[in-house]
Amino acid sequence: MHLLVLQGPNLNMLGQREPTIYGSTTLADIHSAMNAKAASAAIELTFVQSNHEGVLVDTLHAHYGQIQGIIINPGALTHYGLSLRDGLALMDVPIIEVHLSNVYAREAFRHHSVVAAIAQGQISGLGWQGYLYALDWFIQHKAA
Ligand code: DQA
Repeated sequence: MHLLVLQGPNLNMLGQREPTIYGSTTLADIHSAMNAKAASAAIELTFVQSNHEGVLVDTLHAHYGQIQGIIINPGALTHYGLSLRDGLALMDVPIIEVHLSNVYAREAFRHHSVVAAIAQGQISGLGWQGYLYALDWFIQHKAA
């Protein structure tokens, strides 16, 4: 099984970015923890972070038909990124949406996700471990 892990705008700054909200774990730390877990389940992960919506859409197209699932933290694109949303929808694979913070306990503009309705599910507010829980879902539902 091959999964695409997409990280949206500003997530490259994790560790330094508003640590009281997002924690002090870096994106590299998260990805290495995910890789360790994925390796034990024979899952291959491809990681892409971009601050540009079009790059994320191009990444989806480049992986069309080649991946079995997507774990995505769309960052602020969660709330308005319709071309990203449409790009995710066309992939026709299960999507788990992850947020480090509990977006529903924050500003009103963060309460709406354009991705949620096309996602298998959403994990919000469980910190960086949310990515591991998303991976767990794929491990539990892995096709033979
Ligand atoms: C976030 C929440 C978003 O509202 C915000 O724009 C982010 C990070 C999270 O992981 O909690 O960039 O997706």
